[in-house]
Amino acid sequence: MNIGLLGCGNVGAALVELIGRRAPQILERTGVELRVMSVAVRSLSKDRDVAIDPALLTTDAASIVSDPSIDLVVEVIGGIEPARHLISAALAAGKPVVTANKELLANVGVELFTEADDAGVDLLFEAAVAGGIPIVRPLRESLVAEGVDRVMGIVNGTTNYILTKMSEEGWSYGAALAEAQTLGYAERDPTADVEGYDAGAKAAIIATIAFGAQVVAGDVYHEGISGVTVDDIAVARRLGYVLKLLAIADRFDDGSVAVRVHPAMVPEDHPLAAVRDSFNAVFVQGGAVGDLMFYGRGAGGYPTASAVLGDVVDAASNLSKGSHASIGSIVPAVLRPVDELSTPYYLELEVLDRHGVLAEVAGVFGAHEVSIRSMEQEAIDTPDAAPDAARLVFITHTAREADVRATLAELRDLAEVTSIGSVIRVIGNDR
Ligand SMILES: NC(=O)c1ccc[n+]([C@@H]2O[C@H](COP(=O)([O-])OP(=O)(O)OC[C@H]3O[C@@H](n4cnc5c(N)ncnc54)[C@H](OP(=O)(O)O)[C@@H]3O)[C@@H](O)[C@H]2O)c1
Repeated sequence: MNIGLLGCGNVGAALVELIGRRAPQILERTGVELRVMSVAVRSLSKDRDVAIDPALLTTDAASIVSDPSIDLVVEVIGGIEPARHLISAALAAGKPVVTANKELLANVGVELFTEADDAGVDLLFEAAVAGGIPIVRPLRESLVAEGVDRVMGIVNGTTNYILTKMSEEGWSYGAALAEAQTLGYAERDPTADVEGYDAGAKAAIIATIAFGAQVVAGDVYHEGISGVTVDDIAVARRLGYVLKLLAIADRFDDGSVAVRVHPAMVPEDHPLAAVRDSFNAVFVQGGAVGDLMFYGRGAGGYPTASAVLGDVVDAASNLSKGSHASIGSIVPAVLRPVDELSTPYYLELEVLDRHGVLAEVAGVFGAHEVSIRSMEQEAIDTPDAAPDAARLVFITHTAREADVRATLAELRDLAEVTSIGSVIRVIGNDR
């Protein structure tokens, strides 16, 4: 099986090394003999992390795709173009493609799945969702009959690392981000990770394959972690929760779907609460099977290359049998807006601690049908606080997002409410 590799960065270089190391065992176990025949890169003069015959390198990726001696194409360049055209050309030429490209699949995945089906070859992408964690194949094959209604995950290692450091070491957001950048977990521009775009792209792919409904990155509601404070985390811990950035994909009884990424308070006895550092996990609620959790390294050259290589072996053996995996039918998604979603909330207000304030605040909650499950009050003794300032922390029962927004808007107008602090969704009876 002659492989044309497009890209030789973190993932591509690890894949070349892994194939070099594992090819004999793969041949023995599966009968598939893997050979990397050519490798497309942007620069021929760059030092590579892997020993690679310079004669295999080219800057002309299109020539690899059109080379009749190449049987299978692996795309690990990233981004939309030229990846999209190269993949389309490979599929049209009857070559299976393996990709790790979440950005591409979260935008034009369904179009590419259709092209692969039309060409009768594989387009496999296990690495695109949670790096080394096998979740695409379980959702697509093992759980296809389950009627999965919710998939919820920690799918961004950078933000999970930052939140873990804030939670366990008491670091500020800025200090934790700086350490993540030093360790190479976060980019110099961390926006895609910390504002939830990366997790949003993965959530769109998860929803599409779990529910058979086409969700693209732009359909995903997202809030990031840059506004999360050490105080929020400390209060969450006191109340029995751990703060996590979650990607949540729901399908409702009427067939509509909602996909969102936001910080959430996870009960400390929930399996996702135990996922620390840069680890990822995807929690699936099946109809018959119950709860499942897939845990591991969601990024990094080798974990990601491991998922790519699994797909390569699968695609190669399918090709030799003349078969291919299909994503199944995908219909346009009916999206439920975030305003119509219901969840318990954590809300923090600063008020003037005067007679009747609590009753007035509670009245505003009641007027919007947001019922309070618990409330804590503490004096604020920072130097810049008013002498009679108090902090109120509420956990609500399950409430509609639109009602909570209306409650907050009215609270903002009360003279005794000096500021509205964090508003964080709580995982519980939240559907
Ligand atoms: N890194 C991870 O942990 C991880 C995890 C999951 C998924 N992924 C996905 O895997 C893909 C690759 O990620 P990566 O981290 O390996 O990226 P990377 O380190 O930036 O590598 C990209 C590679 O593509 C090459 N390249 C860029 N433009 C090209 C062009 N026009 N023609 C030919 N080659 C080109 C680059 O060449 P030069 O080396 O010459 O610059 C480089 O070798 C992305 O889609 C990413 O989202 C990555």
